[in-house]
Parts: sequence; C-alpha cells; structure tokens
Amino acid sequence: MATVSLSEEKNLSRPPVEIRQTKLLIDGQWVESASGKTFETLNPATGEVIAEVAEGDQEDVDRAVKAARKALETGPWRTMDARERGKILYRLADLIERNIDELAALETLDNGKPIRDSRNADLPLTIDCYRYYAGWADKLEGKTVPINGPYFCYTRHEPVGVVGQIIPWNFPLLMQAWKWGPALAAGCAIVLKPAEQTPLTALRVAELALEAGVPAGVINVVPGFGPTAGRAIAEHMDIDKVAFTGSTEVGKLIMQAAGRSNLKRVTLELGGKSPNIVFADSDLEAAVEGAFFGLFFNQGQCCCAGSRLFVEKKIYDEFVDRVVSRTRQQVVGDPFDSNTTQGPQVSQEQFDKILAYIQSGRDQGGKLLTGGQRAGERGYFIEPTVFADVRDDMTIAQEEIFGPVMSVIPFKDVDEVIARGNQSLYGLAAAVWTRDIGKAHRLAAELKAGTVWINCYDVFDAAAPFGGFKMSGIGRELGSYALENYLEVKTVTVAL
Ligand code: NAI
Ligand code: MG
Repeated sequence: MATVSLSEEKNLSRPPVEIRQTKLLIDGQWVESASGKTFETLNPATGEVIAEVAEGDQEDVDRAVKAARKALETGPWRTMDARERGKILYRLADLIERNIDELAALETLDNGKPIRDSRNADLPLTIDCYRYYAGWADKLEGKTVPINGPYFCYTRHEPVGVVGQIIPWNFPLLMQAWKWGPALAAGCAIVLKPAEQTPLTALRVAELALEAGVPAGVINVVPGFGPTAGRAIAEHMDIDKVAFTGSTEVGKLIMQAAGRSNLKRVTLELGGKSPNIVFADSDLEAAVEGAFFGLFFNQGQCCCAGSRLFVEKKIYDEFVDRVVSRTRQQVVGDPFDSNTTQGPQVSQEQFDKILAYIQSGRDQGGKLLTGGQRAGERGYFIEPTVFADVRDDMTIAQEEIFGPVMSVIPFKDVDEVIARGNQSLYGLAAAVWTRDIGKAHRLAAELKAGTVWINCYDVFDAAAPFGGFKMSGIGRELGSYALENYLEVKTVTVAL
C-alpha cells in the first residue's frame, strides 16, 4: 500500500493564505454578479468551504464583453506600441514570481494538488509562459507578397478581437497562462471563465495583471458555471473567438454554439487516452519512472496522462512488479505537507466517477494489483491504483478516467502496438520507450497524436506546441502556433 498520512487526529495544515479576490472583474472594477448570487469553492482535502465567489451568468458575460469591446476599439491596448504590451506581460510574470508562494498555496488550497507540485511545476511553468509570450508581442510580422501586376501587396496580422476563454480545474494557473499569454501578446481583449471548482487563482492573477498595467477592460474574469456563464460565452454574438479546455463532451457543445451564433473561431483542447509504449530494449528504470509519473502526476488529472500503458511481453512481468512497487511509494495525504506526492481529487464528482471506473475495471476482469479504494475518511483521496492484464475492449482502456488509475496492457510487436495505440477516438499524446532510434522515430511518425515523447513524459515548454489529433481537440496551444489562434490575417493591395 502507498503511504497514507491521513488520520482523523492529524488536522490538515491550515494554509497560510489570504483570499483577496472573490468578485467578478469587469472593466477594471471588482463587482458583484448582476443576480447577486454566489457559489462555494471547496478545499478538496477536507470538503470544507474556502470562500463564497460571485456567480456570473449571461448578464455578467454581456457586461464583460461590452467592456472588452470598448477596451479593444477605443482603449489604449490596440494602439499601444507592441513593445509596451510586451513590457506589461513581463511585469505580470515578475509580479507572479514575486508572489509565488502565495499563489502556490492558493492553488493547492483550491485544487488539492501537492504544494511541491504547485510550487515547483505549476508556478514556474506559468511564469515562463507569460515571459515567453511577452517576447512575442513585438514580433508579430506580416509579409510582403509578390502578386502579378503593378501592385504592392502585403499582409497585416491583427488581433482577432474579443476572445472568450473557458478553462478547467486541473491546472488553473497554467491554463490561464496558456490562454492569456498569446491573447495578450496579440493585442486581444479577454473574457475568461475559470472552472467553478477552482476560481481563486484566476482572480488573484487578474489583480496582478491590473497592477502590471493591463488597461481596464482588456481582461475580464467571470467565475460561474458551464451551462450558464460558459454557455453565454460560447453563444455570444460579439465574441470573435472562443478557446476551451475541458471535456470532449463540452467541446462539442462549444463548437455547436459557435456555429449557431456568429461563427466565432474555435480552438479546443480536450480529453485523451494516451498510449505510453514500453519496449523490452528500453532503459527499464527510466521507463518505470516515466510510466509512473506519466499517469500519477497531478492525481492522474492530466489530459495527456499515459493511461494506456503498453508493455512488451518479454519484460511484462518484471515491469509490472516494478511499476507496482514504485506506485506503493506514493505518499498520499495533506497537500500542504511537503512530503506529500499525491493529494485529493478535485471534487466529489470526480471522486465518484473514478471509483466507478475502478469498479468497472474489477467487473470486466482487470487484475487489481494495488490500491482500488478511497484513502482516509474525508476529502476526495483515492489510493493509487494499478490494473494489470487490461484488454483493449475494457472501459478503463477506452474512456478517460482522469484519476490515479493505471492500466497495464501487454503487447507483442511494433506493428501490433502501433495499430492498437492508434485505436482510440482520442489523439492527444503518446510516448515511446526504446533504445532503438529507428524504431522510436518510426513510432513518432505513425502514432496519431499531437505530441510524442521519446524516452520521457510530460515534458512541457511554452515554446513547444501542444494539442490534439482527432477528438482530442482543434488547434495548437503554446509556441508560435498559438499566436495564430489570436490573429486575423488582412491582405492589403495598393495600386502603384
Ligand atoms: P467540463 O468540460 O464540464 O468543464 C471544463 C470547463 O468548461 C469548466 O470551466 C466548465 O464550467 C465549463 N463548461 C461546462 N459545461 C459547459 C457548457 N455547456 N458551456 C460552456 N462551458 C461549459 O469538465 P468537468 O465536468 O470538470 O470534467 C469532466 C471530465 O472532463 C473529466 O473527468 C475529464 O475526463 C475531462 N476534463 C479534461 C480536461 C482537459 O485538460 N482536457 C480538464 C478537465 C476535465
Ligand atoms: Mg462538466
């Protein structure tokens, strides 16, 4: 069993963090929602209420869109020197860095992720993302185009306009950075809806963005629920583009809403069922660690989790033994304890869903080797769980679990594993573990996934594009590719 440091006696450490913002940010002002309604955000480690947050709905989204439109058309943002926009983004990165401990604590409090992860992964990646896009602000160049005739033709890359952004709860700060970085560098104005489970850090970063000098109305934050505030964004007639990260199910709704309303541009970053493929000729120790980390990182709540772990038959038994003992070293407990490596799932809903998947794994004949139940008596903790001998047709091998549940699947040879690896509606990520460089590149070419990691997993960088094939999404975030989502190309032709 993994170490579980959760007892009734031992109180979870009371986080030393102040909740500074719980209202909506519209046009540079912190305001109550039009309805006056609020909703509770919970500490997933205890189930206790952290704060009441203003609950936005259609009317609030409408006000936010008007503010964004005004800021875009008449404010100083669009006409400001591009380098000045970059400077503001650098300042935002600096301010986040200056408040890194506070933001890490707030993220851990609201989401449940271990403080060592929020402090050492989420925050540094967030800061790096803003810095990366700060550098792009003054480098968005058009082209001169050699057309026929006595003409001078050139392109301008202009901000797409007012953008709606809907983000999930698994990496709240980082998903905000992936959305805000390119949008602000491109000169767009934003209406953001954070996830209802984790609204707090988005509001704090918005406060820092104002301090950094982002003009009023350029960023607006409307916490609220999906079917109300989220839907209002997707359907709005004056939002030019919507960017969404979350479930494939809601991704489809977003696209339909865009089609029904004003054909706003749509980018989607959705679910996954990523194959992590271990060959007998790999560095086994590294592969075990990669298999473990690729699945259990962030309580398994990663869109790119290596949730179909294919292991070559020749090493299957040994590998399974080793990955199970690695899993038993996981320290489940108080996310504010710096030794903790696994915190609670984000919500009761996710907790219930994952336990149901574990049950289906048992019912359909998966071999449960460790874990399999809730950990502790309160909060949404689940034991790190490993199923071996999983077959491709089992539900746990097909659907996104989004929890600490590993499925190990044996395979025989290269051709077979390419075919089986691609047998999914999803195509977000994949990984290959081998010392054979030819085999590695062949798989990299043949796997239908937006990202392929070779002898590593979950390596993210603001410069490297990320996104999905098939039902894992549309478009790419990060890198120069993400900027295209926030720019319109205008062709200008001049008679000479
Ligand atoms: P979700 O897709 O419902 O929520 C993501 C965001 O979309 C939230 O901000 C939510 O308020 C918003 N939303 C929900 N319904 C909406 C609607 N009708 N219109 C506009 N916005 C809407 O995801 P949920 O329910 O939190 O999790 C369900 C499953 O989705 C998870 O178990 C996991 O499998 C997957 N998921 C994938 C993520 C990813 O990173 N790709 C992130 C979160 C969840
Ligand atoms: Mg949902």
